[in-house]
Amino acid sequence: MKVAVYGLQWGDEGKGKVVSYLSKDFDWIVRYSGGPNAGHTIVKEGIKLVHHHLPCIDHGGSNRGYLGPGMVVDLSTLIEELESLERIFPGISKRFYIDKYVSLILPWHKLEESALEKAENIGTTKRGIGPTYKDRTARFSITLYDIENDTAFEKLKAMKAIKSPLVNSFLDEAALLKDLETLYNRLLELGVKVTDFVSIKEDLEKSSILFEGSQGFLLDINCGTYPYVTSAQVASAGISSFFSWVKIDRYIGVAKAYTTRVGEGPFPTEIKGEIAQKLRERGGEYGATTGRPRRVGWLDLPALKYSVIFAPATEIVLTKADVLSGFEKIKVAISYNVKGKRVDTPRGFGDFFEAEPVYTDLAGWTDLNDPLFEEFVSLMEEFTGVKVSMVSTGPETSQMLIKEV
Ligand code: IMP
Repeated sequence: MKVAVYGLQWGDEGKGKVVSYLSKDFDWIVRYSGGPNAGHTIVKEGIKLVHHHLPCIDHGGSNRGYLGPGMVVDLSTLIEELESLERIFPGISKRFYIDKYVSLILPWHKLEESALEKAENIGTTKRGIGPTYKDRTARFSITLYDIENDTAFEKLKAMKAIKSPLVNSFLDEAALLKDLETLYNRLLELGVKVTDFVSIKEDLEKSSILFEGSQGFLLDINCGTYPYVTSAQVASAGISSFFSWVKIDRYIGVAKAYTTRVGEGPFPTEIKGEIAQKLRERGGEYGATTGRPRRVGWLDLPALKYSVIFAPATEIVLTKADVLSGFEKIKVAISYNVKGKRVDTPRGFGDFFEAEPVYTDLAGWTDLNDPLFEEFVSLMEEFTGVKVSMVSTGPETSQMLIKEV
């Protein structure tokens, strides 16, 4: 079985929890895009873990995790992540594989991002993700392959010559290379295996795989609310760039019962004030990577339908509906008014900027056994044309309700 799990909103849908729930049934958990901008929170038997680079393998089990070549990796934070996981699960690093073609996030990428943020104000996670993907597309990113093959130094020198004076003024390429080599050796010392997407194919082919997405489809570089997006392909297109040979059996889209986003950009159903604060507090809506308070809003069905079609999703896992339990009334957007025209499915990202949401009011539910909650689920299913296959009932990995579909 090959399964993809990714977010259908603006990230933070609770993918970490969903992947962690499903993880034990798969031989491989593969991260295929993004980098340490992701913050996948997992709560297992009371222990809270936040993964940034690492795929959510079954911590106590024996399956393996692969950081695929479409990722961008900050070696020093990856090592910190491994070391802190080692303190709880000694020896776990040996179960991780990293592709030698991942692009490395270098110190200047973060500097470039800070400079760009002043001009663009995207509200990035400041992890250097965009500038690293930019260098990859511009054909001069540094990979682990370069460290292994002594091609890193020449490339660093060439990059330094091209980079802005901001970077040039302090960068010592020889010192940077030494740092990278030290980090690379530490990875090996921890037992992480360096591989590549061709050598690993045979193993993947005969295994069950869960492709773990990061961010959400509305942050996709191509289909998201551009330019307020991340720099990677976050859904199926991101998987197919290196794994086009894989036939995916299930595309599981994760959606929250309400909506959040961090950073700037259009957010048609955003709410402010008392209700927003209540939702933020009850849902713990603070960034797992940056700690920023997340913007919050009602469920946006037109946006969800757009994601379900184009990400795509063949089923939905609904998360955090328990956060809305006890609300007397809730709202759900069922169409947009775009310049006087009714729009049910946004026509590309332009509509997100112009949308005035049209809401329906629903009576809130007391708990997830309340028939009023079923009505909410039916509305989601009817609107999107996709069934809700699982409902997360709390933060613990085990708190999951499987629905008959
Ligand atoms: P970047 O990925 O750091 O370049 O940030 C670009 C946009 O994506 C910003 O609005 C970030 O807040 C958002 N973003 C990136 N990663 C995540 C995530 O894992 N969850 C939610 N938002 C994210």
